[in-house]
Amino acid sequence: MKLMICGANGQVGRHLVEACIQETNINVLALSRNDLNITERNDVFEQTESFRPNIIINAAAYTQVDKAEEEPELAYCINAQAVEYLSEVANAVDAILIHISTDYVFDGKSSQPYQELSQQNPLNIYGTTKWQGEQILLEKARKPILIRTSWVFCESDNNFVATMLRLSKSRKRLSIVDDQMGAPTYAKHLAEAIINIAEVSFLAPKFHFGIYHFCGQPFVSWFEFAKVIFEKSEQLDLIHQLPEVVPIASEDYSSAARRPKNSCLQTSRFFTEKSSLSRDWQAGLDSVLSPKEKISNEGY
Ligand SMILES: NC(=O)c1ccc[n+]([C@@H]2O[C@H](COP(=O)([O-])OP(=O)(O)OC[C@H]3O[C@@H](n4cnc5c(N)ncnc54)[C@H](OP(=O)(O)O)[C@@H]3O)[C@@H](O)[C@H]2O)c1
Repeated sequence: MKLMICGANGQVGRHLVEACIQETNINVLALSRNDLNITERNDVFEQTESFRPNIIINAAAYTQVDKAEEEPELAYCINAQAVEYLSEVANAVDAILIHISTDYVFDGKSSQPYQELSQQNPLNIYGTTKWQGEQILLEKARKPILIRTSWVFCESDNNFVATMLRLSKSRKRLSIVDDQMGAPTYAKHLAEAIINIAEVSFLAPKFHFGIYHFCGQPFVSWFEFAKVIFEKSEQLDLIHQLPEVVPIASEDYSSAARRPKNSCLQTSRFFTEKSSLSRDWQAGLDSVLSPKEKISNEGY
C-alpha cells in the first residue's frame, strides 16, 4: 500500500509517520510543508503523480483558531481551497483521500454528542474554513474519508497540555473554562485509527466512504482536563508549585474566536464491536508526560 502524508510535521502528521513505520506493508511518502505546500496546485499534482499513492492523508491545516479571525483568506486557502486540489489529484491517480476535520464545524448548542450527519454551523473562521473543506472533499473526491476529531494533544509544544505546563511556571492561579465539553484526543491514538481505516478502506471492496468521528474518551470540560494534567504532573514531579485552577464561564474568558460549548462527538460509526483501537486520553496523557521513547524532533 502506497501512502502519501501531507502535513507530516504537525501533531497528527508526525504520529502518522511513526505509525506507518511500524507497518511493513506500507510504503510511505511523508511530506512536511517544506516538501509540499498544499496550496500550490502544480506542486500537489507533480508530487502525487510521481509517487502515485493508493491513499493520500491530509494532515496539513491552518490550525490557529484565534489568529484565523485575522487571516480568513489564508485559512480558507489551506483548509478549503487546497482540499480541492487534493481531491482532484486523488481522483486523477485513483487514490482514497483521507482528510481530517474538527468538532468546531458544530455550534455546540446540542445537548447530545454530535453525529456524523448532524447539522454544521461553525461559530468561528477556523471552523467555517474547515467546514468549507469538508464540503469540497465530499463533493469532489470520488473516495473520500472525512475524520472529525477534537482537542488534539501530543508531545509537541503547541497544544493545551504544553500550554498548561508552561503557564504553571509563571502563574500561581489559572482560570480555565468549565462550560465547554469535549474529548481530548492523543495524536498517537488518532494516527493509529487513521492508519487502521486506511488499511480497511484499501482492502475491503465494499468500504463505506464518508464521514467518521474519532476522539478520546471520556468527555470532560477544559477545566477538568487541566485538573488531570496538573494532578498527573504533580505525581510525576514535573511541577514545583501547583497553580490554583479556577473554573470560569466562556463569557469570562476573552478570546478572538468563539468556541462551541458542546464539542462532544459520537463515535459509534468508527468503533465496531471488534475494534481494539486505543482512545483513553488519560493513558495518552501518561505517555506525553513521561515519554518512554521520544518521538523524533528532527522533522520529516
Ligand atoms: N489541534 C487540534 O486540537 C485539532 C482539533 C480538531 C481537529 N484538528 C484537525 O486535525 C488535523 C491535524 O491537526 P494538528 O493538530 O496536527 O495540527 P498542527 O500540529 O498545526 O499541524 C498542521 C501541519 O500543517 C502544516 N501546514 C500548514 N499549512 C500548510 C500548507 N499550506 N501546506 C502544507 N502543510 C501545511 C503545518 O506546517 P508548519 O509546521 O510548517 O506550520 C503543520 O505541520 C487538522 O486538519 C486540524 O484541523 C486539530
